[in-house]
Amino acid sequence: MKNILVTGGAGFIGSNFVRRSLKLKKDWRIVVLDALTYAGNLENLNGLEDEYKDRYSFNKLDIKDKEGVFKLFERENFDGVINFAAESHVDRSILGPLIFVETNVLGTVNLLEASRKYFKDGEKRFLQISTDEVYGALGEDGSFTEETKVDPSSPYSASKTSADLFVLAYTRTYGLNVVITRCCNNYGPYQFPEKLIPFMIKRALDNEPLPVYGDGRNVRDWIYVDDHNDGTILAFEKGKIGEVYNLGARCEKRNIDLVKIIIEKLKNNLKDRKDFKEPQINFVKDRPGHDFRYSIDPSKAERELGFKAKVSFEEGIEKTIKWYIENEGWWRRIISGEYLEYVKKQYEDAK
Ligand code: NAD
Ligand code: DAU
Repeated sequence: MKNILVTGGAGFIGSNFVRRSLKLKKDWRIVVLDALTYAGNLENLNGLEDEYKDRYSFNKLDIKDKEGVFKLFERENFDGVINFAAESHVDRSILGPLIFVETNVLGTVNLLEASRKYFKDGEKRFLQISTDEVYGALGEDGSFTEETKVDPSSPYSASKTSADLFVLAYTRTYGLNVVITRCCNNYGPYQFPEKLIPFMIKRALDNEPLPVYGDGRNVRDWIYVDDHNDGTILAFEKGKIGEVYNLGARCEKRNIDLVKIIIEKLKNNLKDRKDFKEPQINFVKDRPGHDFRYSIDPSKAERELGFKAKVSFEEGIEKTIKWYIENEGWWRRIISGEYLEYVKKQYEDAK
């Protein structure tokens, strides 16, 4: 049995990862560490304690907590770490950058320090979940490869880039067995309704206008969360020490086109619901430093890890929209005072 630490396991991608890897990797025991910030939700992990009694445990802990993290490493004798924990929302990083430095940089370095102390044999792997945003913005042409120079635009992406540089420094300086993955925009169940797709679904279901930044021509590259997580397992098991792997599904969409697809899918799924009205699109003030286009070239991961995204956009977005319609209680429960305050601050000009 391999004992794996998964940080940020109560968030969107992390919770999908925990569920999927417990199902697919019968010889893995997963220890989740999560501080349960506004984005972490124990409900995302419901049922796992019963279903996987001996292979799953949860620890409420902050990755910055040196004593707590070192004690956990001492007690658990991990075979590896997969670090999903992060502050992850670009708009929040623009409103308040400091916590992004604290969690994404200091927190990651704290985990690296614990790994340096307890991972003596070089067999034990530290996998850093990074992002395509470290590469900055593309124009109309080209794609990010692992050779593209990092050039982050937002405090979020600057903090993720910093973390990547520390991770790489730990392999060069201390020989730590590290791998980094850089994935494009994920979508799927359990994504916090501040990110584009679930935010637009929530607004549409509440008969609120859909705020599209700028002229809506910015392009994002989309992958279904299970495909990202399958790539994560492959990178953890097969990645070469010190290497970076881009993960993506070659699925670029302009924001405005994606919002229109969401509206069409909602209309189709809700045709029998009299209270649902076609939402209005509002073009609102642009995000400062808004990266124009992302496009991931996943060839290296395909060639070296055998990675291949399997879920088509058509299938993934249909599943996702159905999930949010069927799980209205899930997202209603997390729309707390903090969420409403954030939305008010972020979208005050959009009203
Ligand atoms: P999320 O915001 O949904 O989840 C983050 C999780 O980390 C939450 O459970 C939160 O409680 C936890 N966390 C935050 N600060 C913590 C701390 N100090 N200590 C312990 N736990 C803490 O984020 P997500 O979208 O699931 O992203 C997960 C990772 O994947 C992040 O590292 C992000 O940068 C990366 N990523 C995300 C995407 C995307 O499209 N969402 C794409 C590529 C990479
Ligand atoms: O590319 C990977 C990154 O994708 C991850 O590293 C981040 O953690 C994740 O949040 C995501 O970042 P983005 O900024 O691309 O995602 P977001 O959902 O915030 O926005 C997607 C696009 O939609 C972006 O161009 C901004 C636009 N947008 C977003 C919101 C929330 C709008 O036009 N209106 C909105 O209300």
